Amino acid sequence: MKTVYIGLLGCGNIGSGVTKLLAEMRAEWRENYQVDPVVKAILVRDLSKQRPEYVDTSLLTDDKDRVLMDPEIRYVVECLGGEHPSADWMCEALRAGKHVVTANKMALALHWRELHDASESGRASLYFEAAVGGAMPIIKILHDSLQANRIDRLTAIINGTTNYLLTRMTEEGLDYQDVLKDAQALGLAEPDPTADVEGEDAMYKLSILSSLAFHRHLPVTDIEREGMTHITQDDIRNAEELGYRIKLLAHATNTAEGMDAYVSPMLVPAHHPLASVQGAFNAVFLHGHACGDMMIYGRGAGSAPTAGAMMSDLINAILQTADDRAPQASARENEAPAVMLKDRVSAFYIRLSAQDTTGVLAQVAASLSERQIGVKALLQPVERATEGAQITILTHPASEKNVRAAIAAFDKRAVRVMNVLRVEASDL
Ligand code: HSE
Repeated sequence: MKTVYIGLLGCGNIGSGVTKLLAEMRAEWRENYQVDPVVKAILVRDLSKQRPEYVDTSLLTDDKDRVLMDPEIRYVVECLGGEHPSADWMCEALRAGKHVVTANKMALALHWRELHDASESGRASLYFEAAVGGAMPIIKILHDSLQANRIDRLTAIINGTTNYLLTRMTEEGLDYQDVLKDAQALGLAEPDPTADVEGEDAMYKLSILSSLAFHRHLPVTDIEREGMTHITQDDIRNAEELGYRIKLLAHATNTAEGMDAYVSPMLVPAHHPLASVQGAFNAVFLHGHACGDMMIYGRGAGSAPTAGAMMSDLINAILQTADDRAPQASARENEAPAVMLKDRVSAFYIRLSAQDTTGVLAQVAASLSERQIGVKALLQPVERATEGAQITILTHPASEKNVRAAIAAFDKRAVRVMNVLRVEASDL
């Protein structure tokens, strides 16, 4: 039997979930792997705070060095969240040769290179399966299982909160603000939902996924981001009539001309597997040259799914290093910076509020056709026009620059642009 000592940084929702699961798994790990996992210290900010009964309070400390400087602790589980001091302390642990398990997508996305360098310098591994998609094992799949694939595209629902909000807006016909209030009351959305609803959380996760999938670091500064707060019932109903559902997607492509990455609400064809991902579930739909299309699906958030993914990382780390094999690198990637695409091609959904006068639609159509943008479908529901007309256009795939230019050229005295959304274009 090999005793391994573990230190925890943080004991909030996730940290206490880790201690609970570790206590539950201990007997099985002893029997299955001949490993006895012992938590030696848990760093907390506030020693006087009430903890769940399964947390052994004698292990709590507010001195980080009791975790980071103890030579007996070889495994550090980071559960603090946020950028600082988490990123600095993970680097410190890695440089000291301690293997680190984290779910912290923000620290990972913003300090990818530093964490990678610290991992190399300490010959210690960084495990982060729980950082993207919670219980859904997407990191290991990208890191290991799909190594013989050139992945050229991934499209993902990687924020459970926004998928939950959009699902309820679609199914119950409710407005964003009403669903948000309800979700907050149920504890399913944060009191400050900005990071989720403005797409920041998905942007961090997309940076991590793309960096692994494309073997080239994709900094968050190269990801275009748009949130979902401007989606209305009109958009949801129009999308349904056109045969689509609206989802907040994280999308990245890697082509010979460059990479392209964005987070934005998009129309997803109703027959696309991502359209059926409901509630707080997550899914990553990707394409590789050998594996073809693939979708991974699972629970993307919550204390138990996240702590479960961290525990799997922990036992992998322990088994990997127990016989002193060289640790895996945290990410294999090229040093050359990514080249970003200059323009992209996509179909677009454009919702307009227009004066109901002769020639308005003709001017809109002319502005589109002058820029080689074809119209695939047009909706003008009489019942939805409170004043004037509501016109919704679905274009054929076109240059995004041209679409933006055509919209900018609409006659502003007669037409107000209410919403412009991309359409997911996978050929299925
Ligand atoms: N807030 C995230 C979500 C979960 O809603 O998916 C943690 O990454």
